[in-house]
Amino acid sequence: MDRTSHGDAPLALAITGASGARYWLRFLDVVLGQGVDVHLVHSAPADGVCRLELGRSMDELLEEMTQASPGEQPRGRLLRFDPTDFHAPLASGSARYRGMAVVPCTSGTLGRIASGTSDNLIVRAADVMLKEGRPLILLLRETPLNLIQLENMTRLARAGAVIMPASPGFYQDPQSVDELVDFMVQRICDRLEIPCALHRRWGDDRSGDGASSRD
Ligand SMILES: Cc1cc2nc3c(=O)[nH]c(=O)nc-3n(C[C@H](O)[C@H](O)[C@H](O)COP(=O)(O)O)c2cc1C
Repeated sequence: MDRTSHGDAPLALAITGASGARYWLRFLDVVLGQGVDVHLVHSAPADGVCRLELGRSMDELLEEMTQASPGEQPRGRLLRFDPTDFHAPLASGSARYRGMAVVPCTSGTLGRIASGTSDNLIVRAADVMLKEGRPLILLLRETPLNLIQLENMTRLARAGAVIMPASPGFYQDPQSVDELVDFMVQRICDRLEIPCALHRRWGDDRSGDGASSRD
């Protein structure tokens, strides 16, 4: 049996205290909008960064997020867990998940996952994803990178994690911060096989004669 094919299982989402609260906000909205259930855990620093960057608490934003507008297709369910709750399903390899994304991921959490400390639910859940061979996406937000961070990334990539620096491309002429955010969100969804069409894909606008047009 393919142990990684849990297409209808919930997604694990961890939010840490790196800059880039817009990334998780958009990602979560897109994923719930696709009808995917999400099991969410966030660190305390994540809330501080959220208040600074978005002017709202995570509690407020998450409360809004779960309220679907009338007429919308059924959204996924959002379940929240405390980072100290090791009884949560996220802490066990026997619970089914389609994978896990850490959006955004601090260099601190990266280091803890690389060291296998399992000392909070985010790190434990990431440890479980790796041992069960499930997708683990780390949207790292840090620059420049020191040797410790580079070595941690290498170690995690070898263990099966996808290291995805929050590094949107500019080749499609983005006109807003939202478009830059969508670039990254689509890349995360693609790796988790969650349907997502937030921006044109390179080559989509090519006509049969090979010409490329930009609108
Ligand atoms: C406004 C703000 C922005 C931050 N941005 C980053 C960042 O982009 N990357 C990073 O690794 N840490 C960043 N930090 C530091 C982390 O929040 C800090 O290391 C924290 O201990 C991380 O804990 P966590 O990994 O449990 O969320 C930032 C802190 C603040 C207050």
